[in-house]
Amino acid sequence: MCGIVGYIGKKEAFPILIKGLKRLEYRGYDSAGIALLNGDMTVFKKAGKVSELEKIVDHDHVLANIGIGHTRWATHGEPNDRNAHPHLSQSGNLAIIHNGIIENYSAIKEELTKRGYVFHSDTDTEVLVNLIEEVQKKENTTLDNAVRIALNEVVGAYAIVVLNKNNPDQLIAARKGSPLVIGIGDDEFYIASDASPIVEYTQNVVYLEEQEYAVINRDGHYNIYTLGNVEKSHEIKKLEFSLETIEKGGFEHFMLKEIYEQPKAIEDSLRGRMNAQKGWIKLGGLNEYINRIDNAKRFIITACGTSWHSGLIGEYLIEDLARVPVEVEYASEFRYRNPIINESDVVIAISQSGETADTLAAISLAKERQALIYGICNVIGSSIARTSHAGSYTHAGPEIGVASTKAFSTQISLITLIALQIAMVKGTIPTSRLRTILYELENIPRKIEETLLLDAQIKEIAAIYKNATNFLYLGRGYNFPVALEGALKLKEISYIHAEGYPAAEMKHGPIALIDENMPVVFLATNKSAYEKIVSNVQEVKARKGKIIAVVTKGDTQIRALADHIIEVPETEEILSPLITIVPLQLLAYHIAIMRGCNVDQPRNLAKSVTVE
Ligand code: G6P
Repeated sequence: MCGIVGYIGKKEAFPILIKGLKRLEYRGYDSAGIALLNGDMTVFKKAGKVSELEKIVDHDHVLANIGIGHTRWATHGEPNDRNAHPHLSQSGNLAIIHNGIIENYSAIKEELTKRGYVFHSDTDTEVLVNLIEEVQKKENTTLDNAVRIALNEVVGAYAIVVLNKNNPDQLIAARKGSPLVIGIGDDEFYIASDASPIVEYTQNVVYLEEQEYAVINRDGHYNIYTLGNVEKSHEIKKLEFSLETIEKGGFEHFMLKEIYEQPKAIEDSLRGRMNAQKGWIKLGGLNEYINRIDNAKRFIITACGTSWHSGLIGEYLIEDLARVPVEVEYASEFRYRNPIINESDVVIAISQSGETADTLAAISLAKERQALIYGICNVIGSSIARTSHAGSYTHAGPEIGVASTKAFSTQISLITLIALQIAMVKGTIPTSRLRTILYELENIPRKIEETLLLDAQIKEIAAIYKNATNFLYLGRGYNFPVALEGALKLKEISYIHAEGYPAAEMKHGPIALIDENMPVVFLATNKSAYEKIVSNVQEVKARKGKIIAVVTKGDTQIRALADHIIEVPETEEILSPLITIVPLQLLAYHIAIMRGCNVDQPRNLAKSVTVE
């Protein structure tokens, strides 16, 4: 987590850095800071959001055409002014910004303290900048050499940029485990955690690879080396998105914009990959390894957060359609529990950002044990996309709201295609059924548009329950993971405690919580097990719980029992999560707004969790 940005060139660095930090705030917003070189090293930093930093900046001292900036998600040390980045070295000559964690920082700190270094923050980052300074002094070497030597001594993850008071014509950047992109302009360079601060100025970028560092010079030259000191040359890539796609486009919040973008995002994720009429599916990544996939004894889906919920739906889809066993694992558990994996397994890693540290680590473990890795990512060129053997992008476009919405629905669309294609290869699905599902998949964007028309009604329900302290979400079958995701959305952005549960499992615990103050959201669009879910609704009603039910248009039985009905268009049961999640996203959004919460940047969360 944390967002970093740097600039060197002819323009004024300050506005570029501030704007860049605002674009990166989704990565953390505990504090923000910048360092500029204008003869002297000028540093401004402040706890809180970038807007707090702007308030304390002395505009008489921001004229500079080189600088670095940071927006923090706290790991080591409280989110206060002192721990905000950039951090200076003891002499004040070096300033550093850092995204990641230096795991062996305390041993290094002890050693440096013995040598007379005094620390002014609780961060691992200040230890790193002083280590670089110490190496430079001891070895009497250039800064880039010192950075390389120091980075070879540290254990952990980092994306860093170093600014040197004694060399206002150079920035040094490095990465391991945290992303870093270099934007190449006209004799100018932009450095950032992702391309969002860069796209306004240039489409040309270079992605720094693992354990590489770059020496970036004002004269328009840059060199990239490995930490083993081997020079590398990287292809310049073209950014595939525009500035408009990362702006709010008339919506009040990114989250709402992204909820409304779902029909288009799903269309984009399906485009060119299927044809209902002709009954084909074409997923390049899958075709490349189709024999291995066909022969796989088992699929393991690994992910975190919302992506893990997509994984659960993936399990239902793949087992249902392709009849191959699937396990779904939290990446953070999988990586540490010594799982049994071998070359006959296919591991599907799902990640919006493609940078989640635990998911990346789970992939390396599975790779070491010879499994085939299939990545489903949204961010193009992200670490997971690059580490996987094969994969497919979701093509949802940049997702800025911290609570994931369109990434979730595009992940599910894609997994549906994957499950169908495997089913075709295995011969577990008749062509007529395949066509029916594909036709319905094509209809989904239109049906989501229809569901979005319920926004005003959902807002009214939100107003009734905005002060609830607990919520229960219940669903069966394909709607069980949707219940989990609906509950997650609500707790993430409104801070109301919410639990998702399989509707029948309610009897084994949550039923004890039900009284007249408990809103219970039922996902009751199922055709199979419909009567069962009606019974569950009755059980809640008997205990005076308040029932909000998402049902299929025309439903009568649940209508008679529920306090509120949200009627959604009918679809194939296996595709129902794509529809039933939409009212839950809107409900969470409206409740959070009514409670005065910051929906795009909920407290303590970050979009991309690049620490374990
Ligand atoms: C964070 C985000 C979630 C996301 C999860 C996994 O917790 O706030 O929205 O689902 O990370 O992220 P990934 O990028 O791997 O999908």
